[in-house]
Parts: sequence; structure tokens; C-alpha cells
Amino acid sequence: MESLWEKTASQRSFDRLEGDASCDVLIIGGGLAGILCAYMLKEAGIDYILVEADKICSGVTKNTTAKITSQHGLIYDKLIRKFGVKKAGLYLRANEEALQRYRELCKNIDCNFEEKDNIVYSTGSRTKIDKEIAALKVLVYPAEKLGSLELPFPVAGAVKFPRQAQFNPLEFVSVISRGLRIYEQTPVRELIGTTAVTERGKIFAKRIVVATHFPFLNKHGLYFIKMYQHRSYVIALEGAPQVNGMYVDEAPKGMSFRTYENLLLVGGGDHRTGKTGGGWQELRDFAAKHFPGAVEKHHWATQDCITLDEVPYIGRYSKNTANLYVATGFNKWGMTTSMVAATLLCDMLAGKTSPYEEVFDPSRSILRPQLALNAASAVINILTPTLPRCPHMGCALKWNPVERTWDCPCHGSRFAGDGKLIDNPATGDLKLSARQKERD
Ligand code: FES
Repeated sequence: MESLWEKTASQRSFDRLEGDASCDVLIIGGGLAGILCAYMLKEAGIDYILVEADKICSGVTKNTTAKITSQHGLIYDKLIRKFGVKKAGLYLRANEEALQRYRELCKNIDCNFEEKDNIVYSTGSRTKIDKEIAALKVLVYPAEKLGSLELPFPVAGAVKFPRQAQFNPLEFVSVISRGLRIYEQTPVRELIGTTAVTERGKIFAKRIVVATHFPFLNKHGLYFIKMYQHRSYVIALEGAPQVNGMYVDEAPKGMSFRTYENLLLVGGGDHRTGKTGGGWQELRDFAAKHFPGAVEKHHWATQDCITLDEVPYIGRYSKNTANLYVATGFNKWGMTTSMVAATLLCDMLAGKTSPYEEVFDPSRSILRPQLALNAASAVINILTPTLPRCPHMGCALKWNPVERTWDCPCHGSRFAGDGKLIDNPATGDLKLSARQKERD
């Protein structure tokens, strides 16, 4: 199952690291956040190495819908209530600056970058839209309230952010990664202080950035209790009406829409990893009803880390790990947040102070209602007596008959039918009996 981006973009490859190496900053993880971090460290003249266990962008980056926006659902009313006007304003500014950085970089990169309005709609609540518009007025942002859309169903209302953007992320990475010190097929097996042990040697670093989608170190930071993962599905339709903007439903199980060339990308069917949900069938049923005659040309799925308070974790890995940094928990907005993360981490690594540090601080309070839900889910799945067990922390894995994978409801690790690791935080393959493999 290849995404549209994998099928259309040219992709760069890099050698494996043989033997030992040393650097000031080691970045672990070659998704968009890690690569942008490497790009910015190079610009800042800071010595770095990036290592990727597989191929760069082989995780979430290749499966995104590739929208660049500072509008992350109806988030600003919630942010003001949770964190106050100042922090909500900083969150908005960090993302607007990220968008602007993309605009500048993409002037010289052929990656189908297009400015589009982003629209978050609600099918059920005009009150939520009114509250978000009021919050954005407080933040002095020029959002617009809409009453009807070009989509084939009625809405209660919508909020429009002007001049956001969409692009082809792998074409972008193909250019941005040129000349960077990247090693593929170089998994880190262990960290001893700031020395990384690989299969073929050691990397002696002064500081380390963990940009592995879900952080793989359980000893610090409590990420296994602070996050869970969510799956979303996409179909690309030919012959469906084009839309002029990028659209997303404010409801967690709602749909998203954008175009790419002559295709309409419809996203949705979401569910927590390891649980059941609408999947591609929900999208296909929607397309059959609203776009009869449209032809499905591609389909794929993605997986996102969801934090306790809808704000990513970017900064120091934990209070007790002075030279360890992290970028994770992008809550389905990974394109924009990768740029936010790279900018913030690069500033921190260069010894600069950033106003955004306190907003994204991974050590902020975890006392949120989602914490109890994550803990309850972990306890239930650890006590479930079925096989096979997840090699990450021992939860009972669930067979996903649609994607033919073993999925973990606790933190979202996924394995192919033969046990090969697909998604972390697990770091190795799943050992399956011959009978369990027969399912494949
Ligand atoms: Fe953590 Fe499975 S991903 S126990």
C-alpha cells in the first residue's frame, strides 16, 4: 500500500553508517522533523549527524495529507481556556512562522506548493464555531466565519484561515535533504549517556535529539502514559469535483478534503490504533454516495501521536536528561509542527532563548482527563490474557483484518502479519508462532 506521495515523488537515498562516528548533535529519526532539524543545524553551523533505522520519511511523513496550517481544528478557544491568551497566542505565532518558512523555502523547490485557505467546519455546532471566532478575535487573527461550503453536505458553520498551504512532502524532502549528513538503515540499539550504539559501531555525541515519531526511551519522560496513537485513512479520487480550499471537520471522527492535481483526497475513518473504526470503507461509502462515478486511484493510511492537551512535546526529553531533546506528539498536524519543532530545537541547541520553549515544554503538567483514559487503556490491555504480546511493554495485540497487521491499543506499535515491525514505539520485530503467522 503506497501513498500518492510515494508514487509521485523522486526519493533520495543515503548510505548506512559503518563503524564509529562523532558529532555535536545526533538526530535519531529521519522523518520530516528530524530532516528539517538537520537542515537548520547545518545552516547554523552546528555539527550534526542524522540516523534513520529504515529509509528517510518511511514512517508518517510519506502518509500525511500534507497540509501546512496554523489551524489545528477548533483549537484556539481550547488553548485560551487551558493555557491563557499569552500561550495560545505564542502557539499561533509559532505555527504562522512555520508556514512562512515553508513559503520562503518552497519558492525554490518544485514540490506542488500551493497557497490555499484552510477551513475547519462543524456539521453539528454553530456555538463551537462562534467560540472559535471569538477566541481568534482575542488573538487578533483575521479568521473568517463561513455559513456554507463547496462540500456536498450542509454544515452548521466554519472558520477560515486565509493563505495556508498544501504540497507534496516527499518532493520537498528530496530537495531539502540534499547534502545533509544522513545515514539510512542505521538503527540505534541503545543509548549510553549521549553515546548511541548502532549495529556497526558507536556514535559519540554531545547532545541527542529523539525524533522517532513515538520516543523509544521509556526510562525518562513518561511518554508511554502521555501519548496514544490514532489511525486515519485516505482515498484519492479521480473524477470527483475539485475543491478550492483544504477542509477538515472539527469532530474527531469527521472527514478532511484537499486536492492534488486532478485528484480529490478524502481523509477520515479514524480510530485509536488497536480499536476498530470506519477505515477506508467509510470513505468509499461516502464517495459512492456523494461522488458516484469517481474512481479511486490511491488509498493509504497514517498514524499520529496524540498528546494529553493537544499541544506537541518539543524540547528537553525530561527534567533529568540535560542533553537529550525530543520532538513528538504532533496531533495530526505534523507538517507545520515539524517546522515548529526544528526551529525551536535548533534555537535551543544553539543556546538561544525562544519564547516557544514554555509552550511546547514536554515536562509541563500531565494532569489532564486524557491521562486517566490512557492509564485505564494500558491496564485493561496489559491484563487481557491473549497472545501475542507487544514487545514494547507487554500489552495484548489485536489483529487488524483490514490492514492484516497486529496493532497495539496501548501506544500504537504495529507489526506486519509475519511479525515485522511497522510502527514504533516497539523497537524490534514481533516473534510469532507458526500458527499466528498463518493468519497472514
Ligand atoms: Fe506499548 Fe504495545 S506499544 S505496549
